Amino acid sequence: MQEYYSLKDYNSFHIEASTRKFERFSAIEQLSSLLETKLPIMILGGGTNVLFTKNFDVILKNDMTGLRVIKEDEDHAYVKAGAGESWHELVLFCLQHNLGGVENLALIPGSVGASPMQNIGAYGVELKDVFYSLEAFHIKTKHVSNFLNSDCEFGYRESVFKNRLKDQFVITSVTFRLDKKHVYNTSYGAIQKELAIMKVKELSIQAIAEAVIRIRRSKLPDPNVIGNAGSFFKNPEISQGLFDDLNKEFPGIIGYPLVDGKVKLAAGWLIEQCGWKGYRKGDAGCHAQQALVLVNYGSASGQEILSLSKEIIDSVSKKFGVALHREVNIV
Ligand code: FAD
Ligand code: EPU
Repeated sequence: MQEYYSLKDYNSFHIEASTRKFERFSAIEQLSSLLETKLPIMILGGGTNVLFTKNFDVILKNDMTGLRVIKEDEDHAYVKAGAGESWHELVLFCLQHNLGGVENLALIPGSVGASPMQNIGAYGVELKDVFYSLEAFHIKTKHVSNFLNSDCEFGYRESVFKNRLKDQFVITSVTFRLDKKHVYNTSYGAIQKELAIMKVKELSIQAIAEAVIRIRRSKLPDPNVIGNAGSFFKNPEISQGLFDDLNKEFPGIIGYPLVDGKVKLAAGWLIEQCGWKGYRKGDAGCHAQQALVLVNYGSASGQEILSLSKEIIDSVSKKFGVALHREVNIV
């Protein structure tokens, strides 16, 4: 146990915050005894989707490891990963074993254990498409429960663990169902363009992963260079009627039709139209190439980033009448 431990290196925003106690756990028994404390606790993975706005009493860092194929049939392999494993290492493991399904999700930072929290997604694929089950430790009863896909109430950047069961479970492992017979998803235009630039003749999961990695490196700021947590807001989903009205008033507005008849708006475009792209106040800013990403240029506080996000929400609401919701966990 350490007193007043700095968390600056444990969050990709590089916000200066501290905790009175910082402990790592790599086994359920260890987790169970650490949870005996009466102090409020926070579970931390890679810290790539949190904005620290206060200091903490107890931070428990998930270091549970393990990565292996546990079951196979003709079409699928089931890979079980400890919650503390790196997400991208899991993707590399699948690519090495020629198992398909996660290639579009290459290079998303963070841990395996946090991946179901917001049903991570990118380039036309979401975690729920490959998720089979997870094991989670109930903080109050100390029982381990098994959740299948249908139990997790996955939605766009949502799950039961972010809502109804918030702060009740620690996810300890996740099992994925991967394809031996590959089904390629190149519906996202940027992937096709990148594959053409790469001069890929024969499609493979490895080529798709490589294309995704190249796109991500060109589009998103590296948290090791400028502190950030990826998209700060979710892309808002609105009715087709409202989209048609907005389209008349703001030609050029970017929206993607969803299967349920709604339209998903590009929040980055809305924020850019409000003049925020490249804005900087002190060390808190809105990234100059990707307006959906808020950044810390050095010593911004969590409160400063939070207050910038409030101003952005208000101005988007005023100009477009559309509500933005934060994707990043404010803690
Ligand atoms: P943390 O930030 O440590 O935690 C996130 C939340 O989950 C916290 O509330 C924490 O308490 C809780 N939590 C963490 N682990 C556990 C556990 N084992 N049990 C219970 N609760 C837990 N996300 C996408 O979906 N798509 C993207 O394309 C994407 N791109 C990104 C790009 C960049 C540059 C960055 C910095 C982030 C990006 N993200 C993206 C967000 C982030 O990578 C994901 O949300 C990731 O899953 C967070 O993992 P983490 O381990 O860092 O979680
Ligand atoms: N755009 C602008 N201005 C900007 C930024 C974007 O006009 O400043 C436009 C782009 O030109 C494009 C559209 O908005 O037409 C969408 O942009 P992009 O393809 O970069 O994707 P995004 O909507 O910004 C989403 C996810 C990302 C994910 C990518 C790829 C959300 C909230 N974000 O970003 O996820 O990697 O698509 O699938 O859904 C994350 O969750 O942290 C994250 C990075």
